[in-house]
Amino acid sequence: MKVRHALLIGTGGFGRNHLNELVRLQDEGVLALGAVSDLRFTEHAAAIVAERGLRHYSDYREMLANEKAADFVIISTPIALHAPMCIDALEAGYHVLLEKPPGAVIQDVDRILEAVCRTGKLCGVNFFTPSSEALELIERTVGTGEIGQVRGIKGLALLTRTSAYYRRTPWAGKLMSGGNLVMDGAFHNPAAHLLYSMLKLSELLAGAAAPSVAPSRVTAELYHANPIDSDDTSAIRIGMSDGTEIHFYVTLCAKRTEQQRIRIEGTEGMLEWTYDNQVTVWRDGAIVSQRECREEGKGIMERRYRNLIRAIEGTDRLDVSLESARKFTLAANGAFESAVRIKPIASSRVQTSESSEEPGAYIEGIESTIKEAFASGKLFSEMGVPWAEPSVPFELTEYRSFPRRFELGR
Ligand SMILES: NC(=O)c1ccc[n+]([C@@H]2O[C@H](COP(=O)([O-])OP(=O)(O)OC[C@H]3O[C@@H](n4cnc5c(N)ncnc54)[C@H](O)[C@@H]3O)[C@@H](O)[C@H]2O)c1
Repeated sequence: MKVRHALLIGTGGFGRNHLNELVRLQDEGVLALGAVSDLRFTEHAAAIVAERGLRHYSDYREMLANEKAADFVIISTPIALHAPMCIDALEAGYHVLLEKPPGAVIQDVDRILEAVCRTGKLCGVNFFTPSSEALELIERTVGTGEIGQVRGIKGLALLTRTSAYYRRTPWAGKLMSGGNLVMDGAFHNPAAHLLYSMLKLSELLAGAAAPSVAPSRVTAELYHANPIDSDDTSAIRIGMSDGTEIHFYVTLCAKRTEQQRIRIEGTEGMLEWTYDNQVTVWRDGAIVSQRECREEGKGIMERRYRNLIRAIEGTDRLDVSLESARKFTLAANGAFESAVRIKPIASSRVQTSESSEEPGAYIEGIESTIKEAFASGKLFSEMGVPWAEPSVPFELTEYRSFPRRFELGR
């Protein structure tokens, strides 16, 4: 079978992982790395370029114009560049694997979708769920009625991020960067895979009966304790078009990072999937089954490249299509619109966490607050949390352009 050639735009930051993996897979004969592009190559990337004799470009457009023998382009650059780079790559005749999130705003994702339709090329998105085996198990368990009728899906991410996290790149924690919308917050970046997994689950659980289930209404409370523009602590309620409710809770201001979890509540029982890939089923308050599923772990990038290659060859469908990723952007933009602005948590309720070498913001009692919200399905203001303020639901029907009521720059 023909060895497919890849190009990479963005070799530093997270792109380092792509670069390492592409080189490894080239050595195994899975694919070939044609060329790479970056404005500034890190020492690590420059060493690989030199060692491998890789063609390299500071202007990605020049690479797209010169490397016509390549099949697909991986884009791992700042969020605001996703849409222009992806559209350029599609129009130059390449298939694309785009880093998540596909764009900061729905109009960018729709522009990419139009380019996909226009060019007939593929665009996969690098969202992942930590275990596809767990996803399949959950789909089977719920499908056989073990927990009854699904009432709702909940997700919880208790994470810590120190000040170094916000220093790592100029757009970290920003709503805008260089005049472009980036909306880089807690649910749009570190917990994005969890939110995507929940939306994917709602799609899988709706099954053939409602294949186009999508977010239709969002109510969200977005807060920050760090000196950033965007959110670091949020509670989001998403009404799906088939009537399922999703509740999503995230903070980057916990003392310690805990296993992220997704809970599916049914009329007869409950199922929980923790990110150590345990899937536990309860009925009448007692555990009826517990299974450990295989983790994707380091193999995730390889799976993504192989999936795209199979899709190019017409033997598979994309694991994460742009249409499926669009639901994430719809929910995320709806969350910002519902919140109207990011509300600050008073400094009297925020301490400096010294749990690692770098300081980080810690919100007093956030662990119990967020776990109580997760258990009850309430937003913070509905629980009477002193720093919380209610938000108004935002309808997503015919929603095409961000922002409509979100107040940028306040
Ligand atoms: N899949 C995951 O788990 C995961 C994890 C972290 C980040 N990401 C995503 O990866 C993407 C990159 O994030 P990051 O933190 O690495 O960003 P970053 O700001 O560190 O930039 C990544 C690279 O892009 C390069 N770059 C910037 N402008 C460029 C241009 N015009 N042409 C070529 N290269 C250019 C930068 O020099 C850098 O090397 C984002 O979409 C982010 O959300 C994904």
